[in-house]
Amino acid sequence: MEPFHYQDHQLYCESVPVARLAETYGTPLYIYSRAALLEQLQAIQHAFAALKPLVCFSVKANSNLSLLQLLAEHGSAFDVVSSGELHRVQTAGGDPGKTVFAGVGKTDAEIKAAIEAGVLMFNVESEAELEAINQVALSMGRVAPIALRVNPDVDPKTHRYISTGKKQSKFGMDIERAERVARHVQALPGLEMIGLHMHIGSQITTVEPYAGAVAKGVDLISRFRAQGHPIAWFNMGGGFGIAYRGPEAKAISDFAKVIVPQVESTGCRLVLEPGRVIAGNSGLLVSRVIFTKTSGEKTFLIQDAAMNDLIRPALYESFHKVWPVSVPAGLPAPPADFEAEIPGTAPCDVVGPVCESGDFLAKDRPLPPLHRGDLLAIFSAGAYGMVMASNYNTRPRAAEILVEGDQARVVRRRETLDDLLGPEQEFLKPHAG
Ligand code: LLP
Repeated sequence: MEPFHYQDHQLYCESVPVARLAETYGTPLYIYSRAALLEQLQAIQHAFAALKPLVCFSVKANSNLSLLQLLAEHGSAFDVVSSGELHRVQTAGGDPGKTVFAGVGKTDAEIKAAIEAGVLMFNVESEAELEAINQVALSMGRVAPIALRVNPDVDPKTHRYISTGKKQSKFGMDIERAERVARHVQALPGLEMIGLHMHIGSQITTVEPYAGAVAKGVDLISRFRAQGHPIAWFNMGGGFGIAYRGPEAKAISDFAKVIVPQVESTGCRLVLEPGRVIAGNSGLLVSRVIFTKTSGEKTFLIQDAAMNDLIRPALYESFHKVWPVSVPAGLPAPPADFEAEIPGTAPCDVVGPVCESGDFLAKDRPLPPLHRGDLLAIFSAGAYGMVMASNYNTRPRAAEILVEGDQARVVRRRETLDDLLGPEQEFLKPHAG
């Protein structure tokens, strides 16, 4: 059974009606399916099993503690980019020894915290960072394990904001430079280079960029080893794309087919840093229609989820399926092809209450007639949804629910206005009069 599915015109998450969750916990509401999260994690573990992969869930995609705990209990390792994320992993019971630490701007305090925690390795993005890690490690009397992050200069053919593996990217270093930098590592006694890291971008839906990148990586590893570095880990990063519209995603096994044989030839263990492919389609956002409005030709559905809850459409013009939680009789659930004529629908802009023209979740989207109080599901919101939410317009962030079978539990309560005002309130001057 699909984790999110319609039965008798009603949307369910596993065996729980989504409308009941919205009734109980209010909207906007993030809902995750435990089965979907684990199915995706296990699909990756299975597809790459020949390489005994360390599947490091990329915490930036969804950092909810209970989700991290669930994934850790099922063998997930983690990819973090701040000491905040590392702290989450530790709080959720994740193993720092199976955690990789990436990011272009690690501070000395973050480096120290990560060495103390005993992370598996740092993914190093620049020469300046090498010097900093070396210094901090030496001051602690330690040797820090590192991987160099290399840009293989392949085009992942994804949105320019989430393409990272090209030469002109702020991330990592190009291959020629990496060889020089690797030579320099030998002169830094606080470092041991045990891996190679790449991450070429996100929402990648073809295998070719991986095939090109991994081939360059294999070659580079032999050159690093020739310099004397004990390279034991090949980290391919994340980036596996998911179906936002329908058929665009590739199966994990297709990516594995181009990656496994090449990495196998190096004798390295594989690290992966998947985020979106685990969490993206394991979660959705539910909202309630506040008003409908027509302006000229346009129909607006003004509902209570906004750009502060899910910023992806505003930031990347990204497409999320939107469909009613209760489907009027005669309509499919939800249509496989949003480009086609769908009888009984009319194009609508699905917008939120935030005071910005960029506050939309969908534009010109075919939807059946909806009314005040109706519920909408915004699909594929489990990754880069809640983590990118803000309090813009002093809007408390949504609650999060994790569903397992016929059970649902809160994994983050809805914020209150006290949560929002708290850090400022003590600084108010006494009110006059
Ligand atoms: N590893 C590194 C070094 C990364 O920078 C990222 C994502 C990942 C792994 C996980 O990539 P994934 O498997 O999720 O594609 N906010 C954007 C996505 C930003 C991705 C940033 N880096 C979005 O909503 O599409």
